[in-house]
Amino acid sequence: MTSTVEATKPDLGAIKQRQQQTWASGDFAVVAARIVLVAERLCDTADLQAGWRVLDVATGSGNAAIAAARHGCTAVGVDYVPSLLERGRLRAAAEGLSVELLEGDAESLPFPDASFDAVTSVFGSMFAPDHGKTAAELLRVCRPGGTIALASWRPEGLIGELFRTVGAHVPPPAGLSSPLLWGTEGHLRELLGESIDSLEVTERTFAFRFLSAEDFVAFFRSWYGPTLKALEALEGTARDELERDLVALARRFDRLESDAVAIPATYTEAVAIRR
Ligand SMILES: C[S@@+](CC[C@H](N)C(=O)[O-])C[C@H]1O[C@@H](n2cnc3c(N)ncnc32)[C@H](O)[C@@H]1O
Repeated sequence: MTSTVEATKPDLGAIKQRQQQTWASGDFAVVAARIVLVAERLCDTADLQAGWRVLDVATGSGNAAIAAARHGCTAVGVDYVPSLLERGRLRAAAEGLSVELLEGDAESLPFPDASFDAVTSVFGSMFAPDHGKTAAELLRVCRPGGTIALASWRPEGLIGELFRTVGAHVPPPAGLSSPLLWGTEGHLRELLGESIDSLEVTERTFAFRFLSAEDFVAFFRSWYGPTLKALEALEGTARDELERDLVALARRFDRLESDAVAIPATYTEAVAIRR
């Protein structure tokens, strides 16, 4: 007999396939171009050393892989959306930086054990549905004494609120662990467990700057797959209501008293040393 727990277990494979289609929609490279600072700052905090072999997991169009190359590292990026990787190759070439960008799944990295001196991920590996499997992969490919550096949105920040606002209109798959848990120290310690010697966690803020709250929402509607797909799933007034709630959210977080908006989004910067 199938137990209730088994019956309600989410189909993580099917969820991942839908997530891949979501990230391939819109154009995350346009969003990535806005948040370059997060990757640059993470690589600096992680103190990446020239000559290190560095893997950026769920690299998208290569922000942190390119930042690592800028540090003089041998940079490799992996993601499961080929069109984003192609954008990353064009960016690296335009800057004259050598970056290898490969197709792969964060839950099953196509690299041998201990093959990198450092492993990074910026708002990337946090989205893979199986947190335990993903953390185990980050640890597996990092050499003993190597560095694991992660930037993850915090649950109480703007992006946490954005996910909750969208989720109130278009519920996420049942039984799926929230990606925002990666933004909490407790969850990171649980995931990395005995496999690390140290973990340093810092709260950071990135400000999204737009001409207006409406402009912020229009940007996310056009380019950010998860928002685009949620709005596509709704029609008529239901869609208008979600848009209205997102504009209200942007206004609530905005810290400027002028026509333009600066919307702070908090995230966790975590740097762990592999045991
Ligand atoms: C929010 S974007 C961040 C992209 C990039 N790290 C950056 O900072 O611009 C999330 C990225 O994670 C990738 N991603 C999500 N789940 C993944 C998985 N299981 N395997 C590989 N890539 C994944 C998506 O394709 C997308 O490029």
